[in-house]
Amino acid sequence: MNTEGDKPLKVAVLGCGVVGSQVVRLLGEQSGDLAARVGAPVEIAGVAVRRLDAPRDVDVPAGLLTTDALGLVTRGDIDVVVEVIGGIEPARSLILAALENGASVVTANKALLAEDGPTLYEAAEKAGRDLYYEAAVAGAIPIVRPLRESLAGDKVTRVLGIVNGTTNFILDKMDTQGSGFEEALEEAQALGYAEADPTADVEGFDAAAKAAILASLAFHSRVTAADVHREGISDVTSGDVRSATDMGCVVKLLAIAELNATESGEEAVSVRVHPAMIPRSHPLASVREAYNAVFVESEAAGQLMFYGPGAGGAPTASAVLGDLVSVARNHRQGTRGVGESAYADRAVLPMGETRTRYHVAIDVDDRAGVLAAVATAFATHDVSIQTVRQEGRGDDAQLVVVSHEATDAQLSATVEELRGMDTVREVTSVMRVEGTDE
Ligand code: HSE
Repeated sequence: MNTEGDKPLKVAVLGCGVVGSQVVRLLGEQSGDLAARVGAPVEIAGVAVRRLDAPRDVDVPAGLLTTDALGLVTRGDIDVVVEVIGGIEPARSLILAALENGASVVTANKALLAEDGPTLYEAAEKAGRDLYYEAAVAGAIPIVRPLRESLAGDKVTRVLGIVNGTTNFILDKMDTQGSGFEEALEEAQALGYAEADPTADVEGFDAAAKAAILASLAFHSRVTAADVHREGISDVTSGDVRSATDMGCVVKLLAIAELNATESGEEAVSVRVHPAMIPRSHPLASVREAYNAVFVESEAAGQLMFYGPGAGGAPTASAVLGDLVSVARNHRQGTRGVGESAYADRAVLPMGETRTRYHVAIDVDDRAGVLAAVATAFATHDVSIQTVRQEGRGDDAQLVVVSHEATDAQLSATVEELRGMDTVREVTSVMRVEGTDE
């Protein structure tokens, strides 16, 4: 490698927590290879932290540490800012200041991108700099670059993702060990997957931010976290999991972004996060423990799956460093990588108009006319039934109905009607079904 005489590329790292410390470690340990790949040494110019004396997983030379993040990004000689603080502020202000001061930005900040991505993109465009964020979705898994670049010549029609490791771990334990939700959550917390306050993961906020980013990229449109229909997994019961097993399915928390036709025949984006039953034969069903995977369907390529660790310091740092090398190469060549692609400007479909399928398990009286009444409730809302299974249990029976595709509004109105029927003792499980052919 011959990098002598090349002007070093100066990198400011904002944050030195779980991910930042691994970025700093790898930048040090792999400096020779990184210099060869970039064509110039990559130097850490400073590391901004909240507290200088906080314990951290990497030795940072004292002269590089600063609590003045804004001073670091605006000091005038920084080429690339790596933002791994997370959250909306001060991350947004620091990224905007970095771009205004001529630095490119590599960020892992899904919440900020999902809430206010266009502001960041516009600032990057105005500054003529790069904004890269592979680490923001599914940790180490390359999925942002495939959607932005590798599939730029294809038409993506659907993205199904398991993009939250904590919830996948919990659902996996409920499936394989028969654990209840609370027990599985406690196990996830004991192993360090789930936070003490698990709301962001368990209620689907983390996955919804990632779904918004994936939908924007896949469908060349602006989609924010507020556009994402979100349901978490805290209401998933052992009964739902058993019901899925009986159907040859498994329950997963899915981030779904797909093209749906509107009533006027235009293509709109449906984007949602909710638990769903998928067949055990579907590639996503084999994603166990805290792993992530993103399954992409496109017109020319067909079906693709991207799989790997979706969180953790070193895996996430791997994605950050991949972006850093790309941005550094662009910088050396005086060029830029791809910016925002939102030209298609597709509308986001309300959840009620999204077409989906339901699995409904019902305890009913076992007497003449009950099945017909249940079927009538489906017919009333123009929902076609695909399969019905009945198990007698003395004077009551369990009916399990799987519908054909209908709008979510038709399906939920059907369930409401079933709940009000005299012959229905209880609707015991309602869950959407994904990943099957109609
Ligand atoms: N908490 C997330 C997860 C990782 O459990 O997958 C960060 O997005």
